[in-house]
Amino acid sequence: MTIFQRQVSVLGLTSREDVPNGHIEYEDFPHHIDVTAPLLHALFQEHWAEVGLGHMVDGSVLELEFTAAPKLCRLYDGYLTVLTEGWHMHLCLEKSLGGPDRRNSEELSNKRIVSRAALYRRINQHGQAKSWGIQFWNGAGERMMNVFLPNIFVGEAEDLLPEHKPNLAKLKLYDQLRRIYILGEEKIPYESNPLKTNYIAVCKSTRCNADRSWEQTYAAVQAQVTESGLPIEVISSGCLEVCKAGPVLFYSADKTWYTRVTPEVVTQIMAEHVIGGQPVLDHVYPPQKVLATT
Ligand code: FES
Repeated sequence: MTIFQRQVSVLGLTSREDVPNGHIEYEDFPHHIDVTAPLLHALFQEHWAEVGLGHMVDGSVLELEFTAAPKLCRLYDGYLTVLTEGWHMHLCLEKSLGGPDRRNSEELSNKRIVSRAALYRRINQHGQAKSWGIQFWNGAGERMMNVFLPNIFVGEAEDLLPEHKPNLAKLKLYDQLRRIYILGEEKIPYESNPLKTNYIAVCKSTRCNADRSWEQTYAAVQAQVTESGLPIEVISSGCLEVCKAGPVLFYSADKTWYTRVTPEVVTQIMAEHVIGGQPVLDHVYPPQKVLATT
């Protein structure tokens, strides 16, 4: 486990991409999850009202906005998931196993992960910056999602302001991100990685437990985590990719999936795994593969 560093390593890496009617100026910053996670957590939890996200490639632009704070902003098997009332997104910030069955080959994991990240400005043919954002690329060098940062030419009602009256105050977020992530002049505003907090999820879908027995399991986890005083979040979730032999439970600390988790099994998992550090092999999913690696 690496120690979280609040000071970003300065890459000093700038580049230019020519586009019709101007160019894009990029300033790269480290794409390690201890940098991307705090950045995205802050944007989606604290600045959601100011930013948008989507993608921009030749022939297609998608821009999504937040109308309220996201209902969920969590890391699951390497992917950041952000859930809003109307849409959700996933972005691969660290190597993903490909679920409990470890579907991902090394090659696929390396392709899917964010492998380059940069702050950008789009500059027009007259040399004027017209928009600001953050671009991510995957391991194959393909453009992934980009975050749209506040635009000084756009008013509060999404109307275009008169060309000569930009709202320069809207550059505050871009400038702050630049000081933290590009120039290293300010520290990351978190003491630890905000997406690396431990949680236990219990699947509440009826596909893996038709009799809704997840409710007793969830209640048992909640009660025992509270009693332990450990800093673990307990959540009920959608599908955890096992889809049989429920109740299904996922422990994020070491990415362990469990099946047939009754309240009694919860007691065992808490004592032996969460506190003792040893997974309860009789209930780990999938059993053979985990046994083979332990
Ligand atoms: S529906 Fe419960 S794990 Fe998929």
